[in-house]
Amino acid sequence: MMKKSISTIFFCQNCGYQSSKWLGKCPQCSKWNTFSEELIHKEKKSNKSIIKNKNTPVLIKNISYSKEKRIITNDKELNRVLGGGIVPGSVILLGGDPGIGKSTLLLQFALSSKRNKILYVSGEESKKQIKLRADRISLSSENCFILTETSTQNIFAQTEHLHPNILVIDSIQTLHTEYLDSSPGSVSQIRECSSELIKFAKQTGTAVLLIGHINKDGAIAGPKILEHMVDTVLQFEGDRNHTYRILRSIKNRFGSASELGVYEMNSKGLREVNNPSEILISDREADTNGVAISCAIEGNRSLLIEIQALVSTAVYGTPQRSATGFDNKRLNMLLAVLEKKCGFKLGSKDVFLNITGGIKIEDPAIDLAVVCAVLSSDLSISINQKVCFVGEIGLSGEIRAVNKVNERIIEAEKLGYEQIIISGYNKVNINKSKINIIKCNKLEIVYKKLFC
Ligand code: TYD
Ligand code: MG
Repeated sequence: MMKKSISTIFFCQNCGYQSSKWLGKCPQCSKWNTFSEELIHKEKKSNKSIIKNKNTPVLIKNISYSKEKRIITNDKELNRVLGGGIVPGSVILLGGDPGIGKSTLLLQFALSSKRNKILYVSGEESKKQIKLRADRISLSSENCFILTETSTQNIFAQTEHLHPNILVIDSIQTLHTEYLDSSPGSVSQIRECSSELIKFAKQTGTAVLLIGHINKDGAIAGPKILEHMVDTVLQFEGDRNHTYRILRSIKNRFGSASELGVYEMNSKGLREVNNPSEILISDREADTNGVAISCAIEGNRSLLIEIQALVSTAVYGTPQRSATGFDNKRLNMLLAVLEKKCGFKLGSKDVFLNITGGIKIEDPAIDLAVVCAVLSSDLSISINQKVCFVGEIGLSGEIRAVNKVNERIIEAEKLGYEQIIISGYNKVNINKSKINIIKCNKLEIVYKKLFC
């Protein structure tokens, strides 16, 4: 028996909290003025029909499964980030700033995966615009269908004829379901459309890739619960003024959640960058001050990165500390350690820090290089170009061990570095290496080695 009910509910647009009346402050996420009224108009199943679909408990040892066959895409970086390809029936959410290249990435993927039947649904662009983009990236496929549609029911009706293996939705914020009257992009529409798509994916075994907009804080717009519902959350990031783009996995039910893919956006679409270390290091004159090289690990990948620092006398009373691609708080902490342990008076200096290539690094192993770049700029003494620094700095100025030090050493050696400075607490088990490994436990020792 179907019961029809129409009512209104207030939703927090930030976290999806529901309330029967308007509230000024959300009790769940503590944000102000985020409630908006939405009309709920949904056919509810009566309790009886729910009870009919019984599921019985099964002993875990009796559950059998076949190892999932993954859909290996032509895009090596995408395969890597997904942990070895797309799992059929999984739902992947791709978030990112506007204009960063989400639509380009997925269209390029759709056109290059010629063996899979792909339905690319766009609620944002017309067929002509998509065709223009496809021409721009010079790709075409016999197996890629384009649909401009925003109603989930119509999309499902089309998939019944087409039976695609992969469904791409650009974007989840433009979709709406007939069951709800609220406007597309509202929390309830996003939640409902996603759950319909997830159900569709699980029932038909179709992999679904969703593009999601992000809000000004960098979170995927819509309810946080969306990220819980899907199997994989990817983030496409990068500085729009730079050409490099990083595809990062934030959550992955079928693989590691710290993988990273690197692309370059050029006039013909996105190009995979299989060896990012070579491009992240810029050419420079031998006597450039304030530059240090480190090796960061993101996921399973080692990346050589270049850190640039500029230390100058503060013009205004309060000195500025500004970091691009590195955590500002961590920079302040490192400067405090330098002041206390090495006697550097940086309190009246502006410090600017930049990781080249526009990428963000959270790996603490680059601390040592950050400190060395700052010292080099402050003292106006350049650091030998062939030296790489790997180590985390503790509050007492000690250089702490980092994980996967062997991989980092190998990467530095591969790119022709002659010397690598690491923590004395790190155990190295590499037999033959051309690179000279120097172990230091204290920041003071590195300082004396480099600058005295
Ligand atoms: P787009 O995929 O539309 O971004 P999103 O879907 O994340 O909003 O990317 C648009 C940007 O990419 C736009 O600024 C132009 C640039 N671009 C290129 O530089 N080269 C290309 O080949 C394409 C297709 C886009
Ligand atoms: Mg787009």
